[in-house]
Amino acid sequence: MNRQDFEILNQQVYNQPLIYFDNAATTQKPKAVIESLTNYYKTINSNIHRGVHYLSQQATEQFELARQRVAHFINAEKTHEIIFTHGATESINLIAASFGKTFLKAGDEILISEMEHHANIVPWQLACEMYGARLKVLPFNETGVLEIEKIESLLSEKTKIITINHVSNTLGTINPIRTVIETAHRHHIPVMIDGAQAVSHLKIDVQDLDCDFYCFSGHKMYAPMGVGVLYGKEKWLDQMQPYQGGGEMIEQVTFDKTTYNQLPYKFEAGTPSVGDVIGLKTAIDYIETVGVDTIGRHEEQLCQYAHQQLAEVEGIKFFGTAPHKAAIISFLVGAIHPYDMGTIIDRLGIAVRTGHHCTQPIMQHYAIPGTIRASFALYNEKEEIDRFVSAVKRAAWMLRQ
Ligand SMILES: Cc1ncc(COP(=O)(O)O)c(C=O)c1O
Repeated sequence: MNRQDFEILNQQVYNQPLIYFDNAATTQKPKAVIESLTNYYKTINSNIHRGVHYLSQQATEQFELARQRVAHFINAEKTHEIIFTHGATESINLIAASFGKTFLKAGDEILISEMEHHANIVPWQLACEMYGARLKVLPFNETGVLEIEKIESLLSEKTKIITINHVSNTLGTINPIRTVIETAHRHHIPVMIDGAQAVSHLKIDVQDLDCDFYCFSGHKMYAPMGVGVLYGKEKWLDQMQPYQGGGEMIEQVTFDKTTYNQLPYKFEAGTPSVGDVIGLKTAIDYIETVGVDTIGRHEEQLCQYAHQQLAEVEGIKFFGTAPHKAAIISFLVGAIHPYDMGTIIDRLGIAVRTGHHCTQPIMQHYAIPGTIRASFALYNEKEEIDRFVSAVKRAAWMLRQ
């Protein structure tokens, strides 16, 4: 689907046509996004918000239009509830630091899940160390489904926030975030959703979900690297302390005291990645032109087909077989080390990811060193899966000799 828009895919690696199945790490960028980035640098590159001159005004206008576009894309109620960051990791660090500074105290608890990316574990551990709080962990079962029935028993009056991913980057599980949010809100606990693996596959409506925070990275949704989003309900963002200090986030600075800017600028210290933010707007236009539902359906078909075909590989074991899955497949074949298989598959022209995928607790759960992960995007095709399955079979045969 729309493969012609992604020029990078028209190349050979090791004399083989490239197959790119590492989309959960980062997606490729369509021509329109690359052009919007070069157009920005060719025509309006300038620092924003601070200049009266023409270029600065143009760049500021485009930057703020991008904010409106993001707000519309995830159906945020207010545009100033959208904060631009450099990626999902920074968004989570921002909440952990600012929410922590404002609301956490010794003895408090934060609930996360056992299938979080390190980016949604470590910032909270840092906050726990700082304020004397502790993490509690909602486990998942052997199929990679959260044991959601345990959530109530893990909550208490000490729980200050729940932070959980929408889609697991290793297991592909689509988590029941609606249930998590409803349960949390019955106890007046806010919920942060790490949507890094969800935004380009599922339609997101933050008002309908009623989540308190939602974050993602542009580069996993066909936008340039260097831009991310944090959505937060105004009522929380207003109360939270700033994350970083610097230009733009201030209202008035004196040596005695500094007052802070209004939302969203209070959380946007320093010069942002203006061109990347504008590129994100173009990527959203692109996704919406193709249709998030169309993309999701296409990827689901690929995922089901890949599961079926791979199931024929002798000794294969899948990690993450939840009934609700996004386009991510993790597996091992017999006792073959994932790096060995990944290396052979790479030589056959296929890019997959091997290792722990920044989810070491998942590896600890299954007592494995890592997995081979194939993840799909809108431009992938069924024929590529056939070639991939042959490559896995060939690698397995070679490594068993
Ligand atoms: C679920 C999840 N959360 C957070 C991140 C961090 O994203 P980034 O490295 O773009 O900040 C990733 C990246 O793989 C992810 O998959």
